[in-house]
Amino acid sequence: MTQPVFTDRLDYIRQLFVAETPLMQQVRQAAAAENQDNISLHPEEGQLLSLLARLIGAEKIIEIGTFYGYAALWLASGLPPTGQLWTLEKDPVRAARARMFLQNENQITLVEGDAHASLARLEPHGPFDLIFIDADKLNYGTYLDWAEQHVRPGGLIIGDNTFLFDAVWKDEPIARVRETARHTMRAFNQRLADPTRYKSIMLPTAEGLTIAQKLF
Ligand code: DHB
Ligand code: MG
Repeated sequence: MTQPVFTDRLDYIRQLFVAETPLMQQVRQAAAAENQDNISLHPEEGQLLSLLARLIGAEKIIEIGTFYGYAALWLASGLPPTGQLWTLEKDPVRAARARMFLQNENQITLVEGDAHASLARLEPHGPFDLIFIDADKLNYGTYLDWAEQHVRPGGLIIGDNTFLFDAVWKDEPIARVRETARHTMRAFNQRLADPTRYKSIMLPTAEGLTIAQKLF
């Protein structure tokens, strides 16, 4: 019997463990067609988020930074049928695209507008089980402030792009990364690395993924 051929480790993992829905494929391909797939989560990261949501029995999830809705679809796939996900997007063009892709997803609510204002309005729905921060990198600190108040003990705070295009661990200037963003992201990871407050790890994905369980 001939074995299937795999091109590399990731291809192997994806073929065995990652089954995108047709809608997930459609969303990822739309981003790729516009050369924006670097902004989307990778499929195996999506499956990881889904697994994490399920492991903690998440019923209420917040995502900051919808883009086209790819990660929202993965996170929602880890919810029970009664679960809800709110995904926040400031950019009107991205929000319009996401709204189209997510229109039949009755567990997902797209909230368009500035995330700080949206978060304030969502507070009555809390506490939340999981927050996924994947938006403007300069505001990760203020999003974490909010998450510390509104994620339940035992819930998860997850941040994407926590390498900040390698600026977090390199000392030299990185093109397109402002020094303020570098300081913000270093502080974000530093806070989540505190073992008295979080059980946490950072995974060396292409962009860096920090995963922290809130202990307080
Ligand atoms: C960018 C944003 C992201 O969230 C990401 O994962 C990769 C790139 C960006 O703004 O370039
Ligand atoms: Mg990202």
